[in-house]
Amino acid sequence: MMSNRIFFVCLLCAITILGRTQLNVIPQPQSCVFSKSGAFVLNAETKIVYDPAFSSEASILFNLLLESFQLKNELEPFKQPARGIIYLKRKNGEMNEVMAHAEYYQLDVSEQSVVIESYKGVGILHGIQTFLQLLPVEVPSSGVLSIGALSIKDFPAFKHRGLLLDCGRHFMSTDFIKQTLDIMSAYKMNVFHWHLTEDQGWRIEIKKYPKLTEIGGFRTENGRQYGGFYTQNEIKEIVDYATKLHITVIPEIELPGHSSAAIAAYPYLSCTGKSIPVETEWGVFKDIYCAGNDQTLQFIYDVMDEVCSLFPGKYIHVGGDEAPKVRWESCTKCQKRIKGNQLKSEAELQTWMIEQVATHLKKKGKSIIGWDEILEGGIPADAAIQSWRGMQGGIDAAQKKHGVIMSPTSHCYFDYGLEGIDTKRVYEFEPIPNELNAEYQNFIWGAECNMWTERAPQETVHSKILPRMLSLSEVLWTHPKEKDYNEFERRVKQDFKRLDKKGVKYGFISTPLQFDSKINGDQLWVELKRYSEDVVLKYKLKNTKMDWVDYRGSIPIQSKQVLAVSMKTLGTENESVVERTYAAHQGLGKELKLNYTPSNSYSGGGYNALLDGRLGTSNFRDGIWQAVQGKDMEMLIDLGGIKDVKSISTQWFHYANAWIFRPQRVEYWGSVDGNNWKLLLGDDLQLAAESPGELIVSSACPVNDIPYVMRYVKVIAKSIGKCPNWHDAPGEPSWLFCDEIVIE
Ligand code: ACM
Ligand code: ZN
Repeated sequence: MMSNRIFFVCLLCAITILGRTQLNVIPQPQSCVFSKSGAFVLNAETKIVYDPAFSSEASILFNLLLESFQLKNELEPFKQPARGIIYLKRKNGEMNEVMAHAEYYQLDVSEQSVVIESYKGVGILHGIQTFLQLLPVEVPSSGVLSIGALSIKDFPAFKHRGLLLDCGRHFMSTDFIKQTLDIMSAYKMNVFHWHLTEDQGWRIEIKKYPKLTEIGGFRTENGRQYGGFYTQNEIKEIVDYATKLHITVIPEIELPGHSSAAIAAYPYLSCTGKSIPVETEWGVFKDIYCAGNDQTLQFIYDVMDEVCSLFPGKYIHVGGDEAPKVRWESCTKCQKRIKGNQLKSEAELQTWMIEQVATHLKKKGKSIIGWDEILEGGIPADAAIQSWRGMQGGIDAAQKKHGVIMSPTSHCYFDYGLEGIDTKRVYEFEPIPNELNAEYQNFIWGAECNMWTERAPQETVHSKILPRMLSLSEVLWTHPKEKDYNEFERRVKQDFKRLDKKGVKYGFISTPLQFDSKINGDQLWVELKRYSEDVVLKYKLKNTKMDWVDYRGSIPIQSKQVLAVSMKTLGTENESVVERTYAAHQGLGKELKLNYTPSNSYSGGGYNALLDGRLGTSNFRDGIWQAVQGKDMEMLIDLGGIKDVKSISTQWFHYANAWIFRPQRVEYWGSVDGNNWKLLLGDDLQLAAESPGELIVSSACPVNDIPYVMRYVKVIAKSIGKCPNWHDAPGEPSWLFCDEIVIE
């Protein structure tokens, strides 16, 4: 049988095309027919009237209209048809297959009236949001708005259209969350996945365990306490707010991993029982809940009981991702549990633990969602899967007839930069993988965009979510068969005016700027490319006296310089500054031989990246850093002729939590003929290998005193080998990350 979704799309695609180029609505409605003539005139006399079932939606419409428009009349229940009304109407009569959708709505604009019609409040609200997007952003001085007559019939392709917000890494105010919910509602996103517990902070008040928030709600950052939590009243306030907007809130209470903050509050929850601090670093940590300890399970049940009473929705997200099993492997209680339940592995123990929690939740009428790792020990009965490490977890779960939410890192991770995931890439996302047979496609409920906040405090979050979430909204709601990205981008740009008016700090559509560097002879040039004519670029070289100047063409780089570029989108409030460091040096573009193949994911831009003059940023994924795993790095440079060399220097990334370690030692060798080598310096790096944080470590080989004559330079970086025992992934091959060999 054809899936409902495909049936609906086929049925309506003919009329859909009609309106596609003229309608400034996101997500694009499934169908729109414009009338040849006629328009509704919205003025201060306009009345909002409603079916009694829709009084809440009527208030929302009234308040949203008030943001730009004063209505003289109060809201009133519908009495009889009249000219100049906006009528929220309850739909009667036979439901056909299309209309049976709870979110279905019709919007009819005529000279007489605006009628928004649906079976349910949720459909009415969607109709309201579409109607509001039909209005011009600025009200003309006449105070009268004219909306061309049209008829829209609309419903979503996917039922689960979500945003994950990580309030664990950074705490966010309730006002900010409400504003985020308003934005979601405007684009018909209907699931707020609230990530409430993390290694770096426990954010939900649990009355039975007050230390969870007293201790677990705060971490020590630069000598100060950072954090916060939501009281149960605040949680209820958010849930009520979301419910009025027909947004379901799914709380995520992570287990068994990402639980350092809970263990900091109650150390007995872990296998060792030892005290640990609320984490201050990002990453994956080995102290997780002990699955062999009945007291730990009781704790989880108690927490879940309070969570269930706060969140009326059917689903509780229990996490399940990134849970290292090192502690379980050496814990007598966990091992006893494995034997006692005839389990084969720690992965099966995780499934067992999650099943216990799922069984407990089921008694309260709840079901669980977990990240795709929970498939590893066998999929827990009834669990829905959120697939993040690609689509495969989702495919496997759908084939086993489990519900699936797609959130692959390739398209749905909005903490990633625009270089990898821009608005276009998200728009290209297809939630239903080709390899999934039609019979399983209905198990794909939809998708979520994930806003992890390790590097995104509240004030930057909207610039990361927007406008990328608009792409996901259209992918999930309209699910256009043939995607016209340019037409979509045109609507996004229109929408920026609306967001400006609301004071929303949205971000760029794509990398607003591309830094291209070129080597011409010995000269390094930087060229800036804008994604759009609407972006105005200014720049300055920071370590000079230069002031901001308009960018007009390639910028010459002398020595080591920090280039700051300001980007402003014309006609909007959107402006930001980015910096890149460059080094002009004798090695630029020279012949290079490596004893390793750079990692595909971290090539640094190609084989010759270490002589391209670009220095890495504090983000090791910036495309500038070059990396190799499980090997030493050896680089041989031919300067093309005999040169005076005054210094050779290198930079290394260090981030133990991501298995990236600075080299043990960096050796600098010089040679005139390529046969006889002289060791110039063996630099044993001072930074302790266990140093926390994300660091850029410099190593320099000065040869200032006696300018050394050489044609060949060799740099050998000795890796620390496997990740050490104190680390979360002992025995895994470590990474080396280098950005440039600067030869002066
Ligand atoms: C995840 O990004 N660890 C689900
Ligand atoms: Zn244990």
